[in-house]
Amino acid sequence: MKKVWKLFSVLIVMTVLTGMLGACSGKTGGSSKVSVGIVLPTKDEPRWVQDEQRFKDALADSDYTTEILFSQGSSAKEKENVETLLNKGIEVLIIAPHDGAAAGSAVEAAKKEGVTVIAYDRLITETDAVDYYVTFDSLAVGAAQGQYLIDNVKGTNVPLYLYAGASSDNNAFLFFEGAWKVLQPKIADGTFVIANSTEAEALKDKQELTRDELGKILGQVTTNWDPNEAKNKAQTHLTAAAANLKGDVAVLAPNDGTARSIADVFGTDSDISSFVVTGQDAEKASIQYIIDGKQSMTVFKDVRTLVADAIDMAIDILDDKKPETTGSYNNGKVDVKAKQTDVIVVDEENVKKELIDSEYYEASEFKGL
Ligand code: GAL
Repeated sequence: MKKVWKLFSVLIVMTVLTGMLGACSGKTGGSSKVSVGIVLPTKDEPRWVQDEQRFKDALADSDYTTEILFSQGSSAKEKENVETLLNKGIEVLIIAPHDGAAAGSAVEAAKKEGVTVIAYDRLITETDAVDYYVTFDSLAVGAAQGQYLIDNVKGTNVPLYLYAGASSDNNAFLFFEGAWKVLQPKIADGTFVIANSTEAEALKDKQELTRDELGKILGQVTTNWDPNEAKNKAQTHLTAAAANLKGDVAVLAPNDGTARSIADVFGTDSDISSFVVTGQDAEKASIQYIIDGKQSMTVFKDVRTLVADAIDMAIDILDDKKPETTGSYNNGKVDVKAKQTDVIVVDEENVKKELIDSEYYEASEFKGL
């Protein structure tokens, strides 16, 4: 009888312990609770697949449960993703919106549930339902692209082809604004002539552009972040360009995906003798293009830092601590407290130092380094 009782108590203790462990890890059972939800805009752009991988690497040993969902370029899918995560009980939402303004209703739904919202890389605009913003210095990205063009062209009257990101993305405005501020004086002094935008041409004497003015130029030279759209636009522009807009030219391309397709078009036009073209994101395919001399530069945004900032912020919030911020961004409705990270210009001169020696990529991923 004693033995049976002993066995019975051991069983009870084991059951209680298993129950406790299950509750602590939050990973057991079908209806697992997620503490941090992460929503990224699309898998179609390598930039965001990069971010997903860096999140996974950073969270590999974390005690917190997280889930990453992609919105595939749809604000409706994005809202659905946020709702899915809310149903799993998230306390913090890290979200890079597909469309900064349209994402308002998704984050408002999150706020209603008491969730803290961190805008990741792209600001969510026109709503007070964003608590924090982790970002790179996007004006500096554009300024670096513009400055690179200035530093790498020779002579005067150099044709300047302008391209931009998607108008639904606040960053596209910041990148273009940063570039315009440094390029405009060089347009005014005759170093460059604008080759493909009547709206930019009409504003060429103004260094500080309003959001509306930027919007007009973006409306003409947007790529929508789509390499195909960029390719079609570049083809149309080169077909329409007169002889004085060919020869040695400069191209402001907003990111790597569009830079490669624009470079491919400019590279096959026999009337273009040389071109300098910018980029952004340090995508592997563009690093190879830089090594091969097909793309001039990229702006390296070390996603490891942005991911670490977002996770640290989320953990502070879960621990009831106040996250560290470095400034703020106005989103059209409120000033959103922000943590900002610097960017690095990379071209063939420093590609090895910045991307291989820093262990961002491995040398074996490239040919001809
Ligand atoms: C921006 C982002 C860039 C680039 C682009 C295209 O918002 O900051 O790094 O990837 O979107 O997705």
